[in-house]
Amino acid sequence: MEVKTSLLDNMIGVGDMVLLEPLSEDSFIANLRNRFDHNEIYTYIGSVVISMNPYRSLPIFTPEKVEEYRNRNFYELSPHIYALADEAYRSLRDQDKDQCILITGESGAGKTEASKLVMSYVAAVCGKGQEVNKVKEQLLQSNPVLEAFGNAKTVRNDNSSRFGKYMDIEFDFKGDPLGGVISNYLLEKSRVVKQPRGERNFHIFYQLLSGASDDTLKKLKLDRDFSKYNYLSLDSAAVNGLDDAANFRTVRNAMQIVGFMEDEVQSVLELVAAVLKLGNIEFKPESRCNGNDESRIKDKNDLKEMCELLGTEQTVLERAFSYRTVEAKQEKVCTTLNVAQAYYARDALAKNLYSRLFSWLVTRINESIKAAPKSRHKVMGVLDIYGFEIFEENSFEQFIINYCNEKLQQIFIELTLREEQEEYVREGIEWTNIEYFNNAIICDLIENHQNGILAMLDEECLRPGTVTDETFLDKLNTICAEHLHFESRLSKSSKFLTDHSLPHNCFRIQHYAGKVLYRAEGFVDKNNDLLYRDLSQAMYKANHSLMKQLFPEGNPAKVNLKRPPTAGFQFRHSVGTLMRNLQTKNPNYIRCIKPNDKKASHIFTDSLVCHQVRYLGLMENVRVRRAGYAFRQAYEPCLERYKMLCKRTWPHWRGPAREGVEVLMADLTVPTEEFSYGRSKVFIRNPRTLFSLEERRRQCLQDLATLIQKIYRGWKCRSHFLLLKKSQIVVAAWFRRYAQQNKYKRIKSATTVVQSYTRGWQARKLLRELKYQKRCEEAVTTISAYWHGTQVRREYRKFFRANAGKKIYNFTIQRIMQKYFLGLKSTMPSMSPIDKSWPVKPYLFLDGVHSDLRRIFHLWRCKKYRSEFTEEKKAVFEEKLEASEIFKDKKALYASSVSQPFMGDYLEISKNPKYQKLNSAMDEKVLLADVVNKINRANGKGTARIFLLTKNSVVLADQKTGQVKASVPLPDLTSVSVSTQSDGFFALKLKEGSASAIKGDFLLSSEHLIEIITKLHRTGATAADSEQLNIDISDEFLVQFKHDKVCVKFIQGGPKNGNSVSCKRKNNRLLEVSVPSTV
Ligand SMILES: Nc1ncnc2c1ncn2[C@@H]1O[C@H](COP(=O)(O)OP(=O)(O)OP(=O)(O)O)[C@@H](O)[C@H]1O
Ligand SMILES: [Mg+2]
Repeated sequence: MEVKTSLLDNMIGVGDMVLLEPLSEDSFIANLRNRFDHNEIYTYIGSVVISMNPYRSLPIFTPEKVEEYRNRNFYELSPHIYALADEAYRSLRDQDKDQCILITGESGAGKTEASKLVMSYVAAVCGKGQEVNKVKEQLLQSNPVLEAFGNAKTVRNDNSSRFGKYMDIEFDFKGDPLGGVISNYLLEKSRVVKQPRGERNFHIFYQLLSGASDDTLKKLKLDRDFSKYNYLSLDSAAVNGLDDAANFRTVRNAMQIVGFMEDEVQSVLELVAAVLKLGNIEFKPESRCNGNDESRIKDKNDLKEMCELLGTEQTVLERAFSYRTVEAKQEKVCTTLNVAQAYYARDALAKNLYSRLFSWLVTRINESIKAAPKSRHKVMGVLDIYGFEIFEENSFEQFIINYCNEKLQQIFIELTLREEQEEYVREGIEWTNIEYFNNAIICDLIENHQNGILAMLDEECLRPGTVTDETFLDKLNTICAEHLHFESRLSKSSKFLTDHSLPHNCFRIQHYAGKVLYRAEGFVDKNNDLLYRDLSQAMYKANHSLMKQLFPEGNPAKVNLKRPPTAGFQFRHSVGTLMRNLQTKNPNYIRCIKPNDKKASHIFTDSLVCHQVRYLGLMENVRVRRAGYAFRQAYEPCLERYKMLCKRTWPHWRGPAREGVEVLMADLTVPTEEFSYGRSKVFIRNPRTLFSLEERRRQCLQDLATLIQKIYRGWKCRSHFLLLKKSQIVVAAWFRRYAQQNKYKRIKSATTVVQSYTRGWQARKLLRELKYQKRCEEAVTTISAYWHGTQVRREYRKFFRANAGKKIYNFTIQRIMQKYFLGLKSTMPSMSPIDKSWPVKPYLFLDGVHSDLRRIFHLWRCKKYRSEFTEEKKAVFEEKLEASEIFKDKKALYASSVSQPFMGDYLEISKNPKYQKLNSAMDEKVLLADVVNKINRANGKGTARIFLLTKNSVVLADQKTGQVKASVPLPDLTSVSVSTQSDGFFALKLKEGSASAIKGDFLLSSEHLIEIITKLHRTGATAADSEQLNIDISDEFLVQFKHDKVCVKFIQGGPKNGNSVSCKRKNNRLLEVSVPSTV
């Protein structure tokens, strides 16, 4: 069950200033201090939250706290910024009311932190999902980016926002965030070029130099050393507790999450680097012949690097720092700039470059976070704008800032009163007029279109002739002299003539929050915010992705001779838009207060807080809120809280809550003028009445607590006793059960023993009987078996030994044969057909079988041997066989040829390139190619010839040239003659009358005679139209040479002939060949 609590529970001081009694400035501040000392940094004034800056992290912003405040009513828990955020978010989601959260306070009071807390609370409680989370993340991550570029360390705040920010967060009908729009107001750009003592330039400069990688710095042409840059103040470059390098990484990461592309980030950093470089450009005077000094750049290195970063031409920029072109209608006048003017131009460029870059960043972020334009969005605006500022020297910026705060105060008063009034009307309570200070008069002094200060400043700026800050002040003195809130030494009213606190060059305005002295110096310049056209045109021309967007007025095609709107005019316009926007929304206020000037925790400076309380108009706020009734509460929670004070409403009231409250009030005799009944709320006029009710409630709660304690204790003792009693019964029951179980187990085991003995005895008896029976049966079986055996043996004895002899013989023969065959198996000869071995026969009677087996085995292994022949091998053997048939025992040369393989093509005629021509002349496959000697009949000497045999012819060719000498078709060959001896001579005899026979027969000799003749014989036998070739083997034969026949005779050569065959011509008709007997 959810416990209903109230703001009034465990209050330190009072949680809502409206209940402060007595109400005075002192008690107000004492209450704030009391709460601050107890770490209660939030206090309410009705629905307004006062937030004290604790300057340390408190454990009150945890996810548990978010859950605690989620969906709880505003006054239900102790004051917290989460309660305000929750109230705003729920009324946006459930009642469809657009909200705005206005956060005000002076610099360092905690506005930016408060705005981040509100955003993070809303992000935590609204819907979840991938898309929604992305939107939330982008909205939250826009903060670090804008803070890096728009915040700086000041004497008041290490992270001071130097721009105003208003962010509209857009939600869909379910309350899920869709996107947002950020508006920025007046960046303090003068800080870019000059910072007051003890302050720094914008964070990004220091972050870039400390956090960027060496590589990035090199690309940006920067040096890590701050002291190298004129625009960076050195005395406070390092800030305690601020890690610039880490923050740079955070900013880069945030830029990535928000959706910046890598090249966009690079362009932004280039511009930041360019601003730093710009600050280092210095000028020197150069005298001209007309006597004027003209500015010249001292050292052009920085200018060069800057131009490289921006992509501008150095000469263009150099010229823009030395000359100024003024265009009026058709005329163009070019004047030179002196050194002071050049510095002014440089600083103006730096300020404009940076502030325009900042505005571009806001636009770029808006592009990323903008919601899709679909149905109507609900909007929650968060305004974090610079607070009211009073410095020792206040200039144009403070004037503008304070004007903005005046406007906010005005809208605050208006809306608070309106809300109060509306509630009274809604509740039907009579409205009594409330006196309050309306600062509309101050706003009018500043913004009035005719004679407001801003209007006059604009008038001065636009006026022809000499315009200075003094002429502006004069104008103010004449026009505003009568105004109640304007003070000046020179004004006509003599009131301030002797006021020495008011210097002559200043004017003072009585703001709602106090008097502020403004120094008129710089008002005109700052309002004009002049950037020479030459510079803006130079910037427009730059070859850089952002420059054209940042300096659109520099476009020479769109030269606008009209002056741009002044800074004051622009600001007034944007503040006007903002106010109109805020007026359409339901306001929620957070008023931030700074407890001390030292940025320290635990220090509460009364005077400082008092000052802020005054200028924030907080007392006024309380008074307005209390003017009618100090406290109001809906009937139901009121009855729930106080119902124990009356017997009729306690513990339950069964009627409408309003009647219950009426009964309660009547019973408590609260005076009727102290309260009023509205439609849904009871209004209590005086805090005293509320506190007396609270006191009575506290008393009653104590009594009730005693009663509850009493009843509880009685109930507890009774319950304990009953529990003991119940336990005792259970224990007894369990014990009895246990005892009975034991007894039963004993009886049961005794019975089992007796039973087992009896059964054992019976079983043994039965077993004995069965065993005896079995033995008897076995004895009978044995006796009968023996008797049957005797009977059978007697019957069959006569059949034994009759055929024993034959059987023994057969058996013996079988054994001998078995032994013979097994023995043969192990002594078998090899599988070679020429192996002649065979085992000796073991038994005489196996003689025939033994030789038959030898023959069968030999035939079988020959068959095996033949079956392994390939076709080629078979052909070779056939040739060899044919050679043996022709020459064996007929020619002595045969024996030596048996072991030589027949190779046929000895010249490798098809492969050898030497014989390519010869080979191509052959139309048939060459079966044999060899070198032979052709014997000359004249002297018996041999000439080397190539001998070729094809299927159809024999060809003789020259060995060297390969030229065909003779080609004899095989049918023209009749016979071949050879000797019986071991020589290689042979004669090819041709058919008489054939064409080949004209030249006569051939007498040749070859080392491969046997092969040549065999091949010739085989080929001649297969040739289709040739007759069988005769082989004539004799030691004397006739050879028909061209004209006559010569006899070739072979004789056995004597030892004097040596080992070679020689052929000699004996006479015309005889050639004698002597063959050595050993060859
Ligand atoms: N709720 C908080 N808890 C802890 N520290 C806080 C809190 N609020 C503010 N601070 C501290 O105070 C410092 C200043 O706060 P913040 O920057 O919000 O001031 P500001 O009102 O925005 O000032 P300015 O007008 O200069 O921007 C913060 O940097 C932080 O250290
Ligand atoms: Mg801030």
